[in-house]
Amino acid sequence: MATFAKGLEGVTAAETRMSFIDGEKGILEYVGIPIDDLARNSTFEETVFLLWNCRLPTKGELADFTQQLRSRYALPAGMKERILSVPKNAQPMHMLRTMVSALSMHDPDPNSVEVHKVREKALNVLAQVPAIIAMFDRNRRGLPLVDPDPKLTFAENFLYMLNGVKPSPAVARAFDICMILHADHGLNNSTFSSRVVISTLSDTYSALTAAIGSLRGPLHGGANEEVMEMLFEIEDIAKKEGKDVMSIIEPFIMDKLARRHEGARIMGFGHRVYKTIDPRATFLKTFAKQIATDTGNLELYEISSRIEQIMAREVGAKGIYPNVDFYSATTYHSIGLKLDLFTPMFAMSRVSGWAGHVIEQLSDNRLYRPKAEYVGPHAAPYIPIDKR
Ligand code: CMC
Repeated sequence: MATFAKGLEGVTAAETRMSFIDGEKGILEYVGIPIDDLARNSTFEETVFLLWNCRLPTKGELADFTQQLRSRYALPAGMKERILSVPKNAQPMHMLRTMVSALSMHDPDPNSVEVHKVREKALNVLAQVPAIIAMFDRNRRGLPLVDPDPKLTFAENFLYMLNGVKPSPAVARAFDICMILHADHGLNNSTFSSRVVISTLSDTYSALTAAIGSLRGPLHGGANEEVMEMLFEIEDIAKKEGKDVMSIIEPFIMDKLARRHEGARIMGFGHRVYKTIDPRATFLKTFAKQIATDTGNLELYEISSRIEQIMAREVGAKGIYPNVDFYSATTYHSIGLKLDLFTPMFAMSRVSGWAGHVIEQLSDNRLYRPKAEYVGPHAAPYIPIDKR
């Protein structure tokens, strides 16, 4: 029996071995391993191996995988020029979507959907997205481009290309953890988009490009930027009105909540699956506090924490709690990332999840083709244009 579920809520549309979510209990596991364990003990490289192979690597396998990734850090000839030609005021997610799509033109065999070839393509895109983002950002700031350094980890290499100096171990680790936490998350909208596209046996680049387009939306990955804008807005209002910042948080949130039926949202809260705190947010909360303290951004953490308290009191019973985007905003800001790079950071990590799902989909493919329930008229007369 066909059923209609707006927004596909509650619909199971794929099988996956990569991540498990229990939205009631607030559990997220990658291949059965709790996200907290991975964030504390793993690295992004190891996490990607885990997601793509559904098991942890041996020492030798990890060294080989890491080497494979690093050997692909450099962009294909011509890509640098393409990035330099992007208008400096372009939005980074639009730039990223276009440049990932452009990578297909440097692949002599872009359309192959044989799984071993898709793995190669996925490795290339994953390795090269950091250079695309960092080079675009440096160019728009009028700074010379920094070539990737294959001696560095994924996280270190990105921060090095972005800032021109190697990051401190603490900042590199913080960033690496953010990459682990964002790598995969069930059949979220962008992952679903990538699976829908590859199910036509299109190509890896089209699937990843579609996923980037989906992630950009403020209801999905774009929320982390909006969280930061909200925190800045609160600080600005306090400054303008000459009030203590903590005193204006409550009226600010209550006003937004009062307008929620007109579509107003407290960004970084709520989730289709989690009805309790997102376990990634639990981890990031502690982490954001530490890094905000270390970098002199404690006020932003305190504002966030106060918003969380008010939201728990007002809408906690409805299952609206912080999601991954809420505390990742303060974390990214404290690391020194510019606001409009927050969503590209999400994409940089999630390429691994999207690619893993593309591989899974291809391994047992069936074309996605749901139905729409037609709710328009029938047998309508065709009225000639001059009679309408
Ligand atoms: N602020 C205020 N009210 C909210 C919020 C929020 N952030 N989220 C949900 N609600 C309310 C909503 O008003 C509705 O109330 P009522 O039942 O009284 O009409 C109820 O909760 C259900 O909301 P919904 O929009 O129908 O829920 P959904 O499952 O379709 O949407 C969501 C999930 C994530 C789009 C939504 O919670 C939201 O818009 N959150 C803000 C944006 C955000 O933080 N997105 C990041 C999601 S997590 C990371 C990712 O996927 O990238």
